[in-house]
Amino acid sequence: MADHPLAPLFQDHLAEISRRTAAVLAATGYDGVVLHAGEQLGVFEDDQHYPFKAHAPFRWWAPMTDAPGSLVVFRPGERPRLVFRVETDFWYQPAALPEAWWPGAFDVVEARSREAVRAALPADLRRMAWIGDTLPELGAWGVGAVNPPALLRRLDFQRSRKTVYEIACLREANRIGARGHRAAEACFQAGGSEYDIHQAYASGCGQREQELPYNAIVALDEAASVLHYQVLRRERPTAPRTLLLDAGATFAGYGSDITRTHVHSAAPADAGFADLVAGMDRVQQGLCAMVRPGVDWRDIHLAAVERIAGLLRQAGVIRCSVAESLENGVARLFFPHGIGHPLGLQVHDVAGFMADESGSVALPRPPLDPALRMTRVLEPGFVVTMEPGLYFIEALLGPARTGPQARHIDWQRVEQLQPFGGIRIEDNLAVTADGCENLTRTAFAA
Ligand code: GLY
Ligand code: MN
Ligand code: MN
Repeated sequence: MADHPLAPLFQDHLAEISRRTAAVLAATGYDGVVLHAGEQLGVFEDDQHYPFKAHAPFRWWAPMTDAPGSLVVFRPGERPRLVFRVETDFWYQPAALPEAWWPGAFDVVEARSREAVRAALPADLRRMAWIGDTLPELGAWGVGAVNPPALLRRLDFQRSRKTVYEIACLREANRIGARGHRAAEACFQAGGSEYDIHQAYASGCGQREQELPYNAIVALDEAASVLHYQVLRRERPTAPRTLLLDAGATFAGYGSDITRTHVHSAAPADAGFADLVAGMDRVQQGLCAMVRPGVDWRDIHLAAVERIAGLLRQAGVIRCSVAESLENGVARLFFPHGIGHPLGLQVHDVAGFMADESGSVALPRPPLDPALRMTRVLEPGFVVTMEPGLYFIEALLGPARTGPQARHIDWQRVEQLQPFGGIRIEDNLAVTADGCENLTRTAFAA
């Protein structure tokens, strides 16, 4: 597996994160760190477990999502050790390391019990930090610190700039997701239910549900206005109009986060919803073009609010000027979320607000945008989502119908468009030295 194309990239990744982690340990006064994958979580009074997802700080090192009880041990100057936990239990298939590009980079020790796990760790753990679940044994094992916040924050900050290997994984997660999105769109055009479309998506990706990076949002028609819609209705729509599909795929623990909004080929055209989708696509691509090192993410968000307001004005949904709609709050009734977030080992990845490497100071959000998930200045290696949206959300529009904002909105236009639910278009962008690579559009174009 040393000849796998990812093998040299993974070696470089490991060397780079070893350097970064060594610097973090020096700054926080620890000799080393133990990164725990986490333990299986049992269902109350049952012999079942919830789907297992290894903790992200562990997966930064070992791309193993299904490895309960395993650990990575890192001490600067030493080869990282993978303590691979194998249950000896005839009820289940014992875990095995995959034939892949990465296990060869570790000093691997198999551990068949908790005692064997302890024996595989350094004898003296007093100057080492543990990151992961608070196992009852940690005190007896003499672990120096468990999840010390200063260390955790600094490690989180170090995950912001993705290595070449990580971007390759995210590129692949986008390729897989694009396959799923194509299959899902075909199912939608053929009249499938939300449940059918979900199954077509997972099958197009070749991933079971628990492998997906987050629960897919599969919303038909009005349901597209529910930001985190999770229902998956089984009945086929009689006259489908819209599909909003927000669904990603995983590769080596990295997830894509992709949204597309489709109009059904038989949907009535008179409301002009398809034009609105096309307009949003232009807005989204214009915002993607702003992404480069040195740009404050808050400025991109504010540009998004303004451009979406322009679209609303053009479509005759709002009656006031764009500038007024920003002042009087009308624009944000239709776009109530942030323009995007860091993406990586976690869908909403860490360190979106950190002012510096200590992670102790947060950069504030713009006062009118409490849902924005990132406030940093972009750097090469950041991976972010770009996801402008425009929705007809009754929970927000209802109160506006009778308040001072009412006269700025054309309610007849709202009635026409509300049955289509809403629009979101979401791509994943890797910031380069002088711009960005759109991992999602490239994947769809392939
Ligand atoms: N899929 C969740 C999000 O787009 O942030
Ligand atoms: Mn999404
Ligand atoms: Mn997203």
